[in-house]
Amino acid sequence: MTVSSVVPHHVAIVMDGNGRWATKRFLPRLAGHKQGVDALRRCVRACIQRGVRVLTVFAFSSENWNRPADEVSGLMSLLATALGHEVPSLSKEGVQLHFVGERQGLSAKVAAGLVQAEQATAHNERLILNVCFNYGGRWDVAQAAAQLAARGEAITEASLNAAMALAHVPDPDLFIRTGGEHRISNFLLWQCAYSELFFSPSLWPDFDDAALDAALHDYASRERRFGKTSAQVQTTGASAMRA
Ligand code: FPP
Repeated sequence: MTVSSVVPHHVAIVMDGNGRWATKRFLPRLAGHKQGVDALRRCVRACIQRGVRVLTVFAFSSENWNRPADEVSGLMSLLATALGHEVPSLSKEGVQLHFVGERQGLSAKVAAGLVQAEQATAHNERLILNVCFNYGGRWDVAQAAAQLAARGEAITEASLNAAMALAHVPDPDLFIRTGGEHRISNFLLWQCAYSELFFSPSLWPDFDDAALDAALHDYASRERRFGKTSAQVQTTGASAMRA
């Protein structure tokens, strides 16, 4: 391993650039998304090897419904195919799968496949893989607030946090966006309050182990202060502390 020993516990990734990867090759956009599944498989393995314990990826946003109908249906089929092909090998590698996002609006077949995949991998402990599908950061804050309101509970940081869709994992330490754009695009708005941001120029299908290592290496050089001063952090050694 060539990267520093400060490995982020939780890495979140906006897997951007599939469309451009395909267009550059005169291929349909869906070919880029297919290649994106391969890149995700590779990234999961690399994260396991490097000691990352939680990986959260943005696979389909609440706003992606506005894409051309054939791309939306292609992404839905890709998810269904990936569930069939990938879950057994992911499970063998110790991956616990969670699908995070609004289930309403998904076909009954896809929705059932998500539940099955979660149940089949629930016992695994090497890496938690959260696949955000039909997800938006604003949707998550709103659904958490709606849950509290329905139960008549007070809205506090702690109660909202517990009602968020990612309550089963700590906040991301490192947020990566591939594809060269410098935007958060409605991903993990609540959870990224203190995440370190890294923007990779690689298009997602090209995001290989070296590109991941570049992000991890950069992360290891950051001083995480969580609102404290640099002097405070240095005396308490809190730079590797998680939120
Ligand atoms: C953004 O690239 C990517 C997506 C909207 C889809 C991401 C999906 C995958 C990586 C496949 C894995 C997902 C499943 C179904 C498990 P873009 O299309 O916005 O690229 P562009 O910015 O180059 O147009």
